[in-house]
Amino acid sequence: MSPAELIHLATEVRKKAFAPFSHFTVGAAVANAQGDYAVGCNVENAAFGSTICAEAGALSQAVAQGIEEITNIAIVTETGAAPCGNCRQLIAQLAPNCHVHLASTAALQIRTLSIRELLPDAFTSLE
Ligand code: THU
Repeated sequence: MSPAELIHLATEVRKKAFAPFSHFTVGAAVANAQGDYAVGCNVENAAFGSTICAEAGALSQAVAQGIEEITNIAIVTETGAAPCGNCRQLIAQLAPNCHVHLASTAALQIRTLSIRELLPDAFTSLE
């Protein structure tokens, strides 16, 4: 699946985001080289710290579907924002060789970074 197709999936699922508190909606889509994919949107919680990020939703669904070796993740927001620290850790754990495509709806811009660039020297092991 091309980055453009993945961004389209993230754009679509972003419309389902539940963000009544921040009004900042996020869509994410992850895929492997075989074209298997999963999507997620942010789901906010009145207890703010329990909010689920879009990337966490997409990656959890990928795990549940048995999707392995994720190669690409698209994240769509109004601003083209980069993922939060928790999500960078999750991506590093589950998709360590992944390209992360950050898409902005406002400027129609795409920035592509590796997860190694986003989270260098990641903590990956308890040993
Ligand atoms: N959010 C995400 O979904 N992913 C991130 O990487 C950063 C933040 C969500 C959480 C919250 O619903 C809203 O964006 C504002 O922080």
